[in-house]
Amino acid sequence: MAEHVEMMLSEEEVDKKIQELGDQISKDYAGKSVHLVCVLKGGSFFMCELAKRITVPVSLDFMSVSSYGGDTKSSGVVKIVKDLDEPLNGKDVIVIEDIVDSGRTLSYLLEMLNDRKPASLRLCTLLDKPERRVVDVKVDYTGFEIPDEFVVGYGLDYDQKYRNLPYIGVVKFD
Ligand code: IMP
Ligand code: MG
Repeated sequence: MAEHVEMMLSEEEVDKKIQELGDQISKDYAGKSVHLVCVLKGGSFFMCELAKRITVPVSLDFMSVSSYGGDTKSSGVVKIVKDLDEPLNGKDVIVIEDIVDSGRTLSYLLEMLNDRKPASLRLCTLLDKPERRVVDVKVDYTGFEIPDEFVVGYGLDYDQKYRNLPYIGVVKFD
């Protein structure tokens, strides 16, 4: 099936919002350092842009998760494909996500990371689709709340395509 992408949020709008998030995080963590945990692959573009705009000391780590079996939609259990390199204990951690949709992946992931005893654990997402929420997840920093549409760009993919778009677009099927 052919598809095309229509712009939803321009590169300028996204960049401006990431600057605001960076300013807020720099303020909230004044006098501390932050440890950013990126959920691959979608969160990577957002994390790099955000990290550049945070003025307190930043360290980075990456993890990759995938759905467990075919029935993850209902179980919300995720498998760690690539775990973090560093322990989290004592660190002020912010998990960086591209989008919170049902909330299933993140609620599982946050619980698991919390067991590693960070000094604090927060969640920052570029996009949030609140209408789609099934599991309650506390989001500390949100870029944009968007309607229930399938979006790509800025790290988000459709079938591994369009991650490199410098804006957020909606996939329309022709
Ligand atoms: P959930 O919150 O557990 O339902 O899953 C969130 C994950 O689903 C995100 O990290 C994305 O990888 C993917 N996802 C959800 N909505 C979209 C979308 O609109 N475009 C691309 N990926 C999406
Ligand atoms: Mg993701």
